[in-house]
Amino acid sequence: MAGTYTFTIIKPGAVANEHIGPILNVINTHGFHISAMKLIRLRTAQARKFYEVHMGKSFYDALIEFMTSGPIVVIILEKENAVEDYRKLIGNTDPTKAEEGTIRKLFAQSVQKNAVHGSDSDENARIESDFFFSKSERFSIFDERDF
Ligand code: CMP
Repeated sequence: MAGTYTFTIIKPGAVANEHIGPILNVINTHGFHISAMKLIRLRTAQARKFYEVHMGKSFYDALIEFMTSGPIVVIILEKENAVEDYRKLIGNTDPTKAEEGTIRKLFAQSVQKNAVHGSDSDENARIESDFFFSKSERFSIFDERDF
């Protein structure tokens, strides 16, 4: 059964351009519930750990520099089939390939400054949510399961 939550980041470029409110509006109007949220600035060591699967790739150092360049919003979102539905809503990693109406089409500046991150699997949604939030910082609408 598909999981009921995913993890997202509103990245520094979108925060700096005052897109937090408009992005949250798109998220809410597409049926996602905000179950945890905070505005933080990543330290370099944290960013390197979070993006360790990309270590060694050509864009890794620039990615770390960008993701630590200013505040970000980290969020856990709940909805049936959350991971897949949110990936559809954010669109292609490259905004020039993203469909009309997707968050990246609306708010991304480039592949690197692509407005938002979204977990690519239920397992990564769990790992990424646990990376930023303790149990006492989460407020589930699906109270029958372990969140
Ligand atoms: P995201 O999928 O959220 O997490 C990894 C990020 O690396 C990705 O978003 C992009 O911002 C960035 N990224 C992926 N591919 C490239 C690329 N070819 N050039 C620059 N940045 C990239």
